[in-house]
Amino acid sequence: MKILIVNGPNLNLLGRREPDIYGSLTMEGYLEVLRGCYPEVEIDYFQSNSEGPLIDRLQQEGFEPDTKGIVLNAGAYTHTSLALHDAIKAIDTPVVEVHISNVHSREEIRRQSLIAPACAGVIAGFGMDSYRLGVEALIAL
Ligand code: DQA
Repeated sequence: MKILIVNGPNLNLLGRREPDIYGSLTMEGYLEVLRGCYPEVEIDYFQSNSEGPLIDRLQQEGFEPDTKGIVLNAGAYTHTSLALHDAIKAIDTPVVEVHISNVHSREEIRRQSLIAPACAGVIAGFGMDSYRLGVEALIAL
């Protein structure tokens, strides 16, 4: 079984970026821990700071029969991208929206997600553990 984790803009800076909000773990460090938790699952990872490559990767993965699902932290594109919404709708693979921070306890703009209606579900506010909860949700689907 394969699960793809996709991170959007600025999430390549995890570990350095606003550690009071996003913590001090790097994504690479966290992925090691996560892969250790699920040795039977192939956990792939993709990150881009741009919308186009994120959409390309969703389209590429979204029709793979071996892929159980995609865990997507679209970063700020969550709140702005109808194109990502359309890409999630277009593919066969279920997508779980995740956020490290509790977006509902932050600025008003972060309470709106353009991608949530296209996703299987949403997980937010559990720090890096949000990704593991996303993986769990996909395994259980
Ligand atoms: C985020 C929340 C977004 O509002 C923000 O733009 C991010 C990270 C999170 O994981 O908490 O880049 O998706």
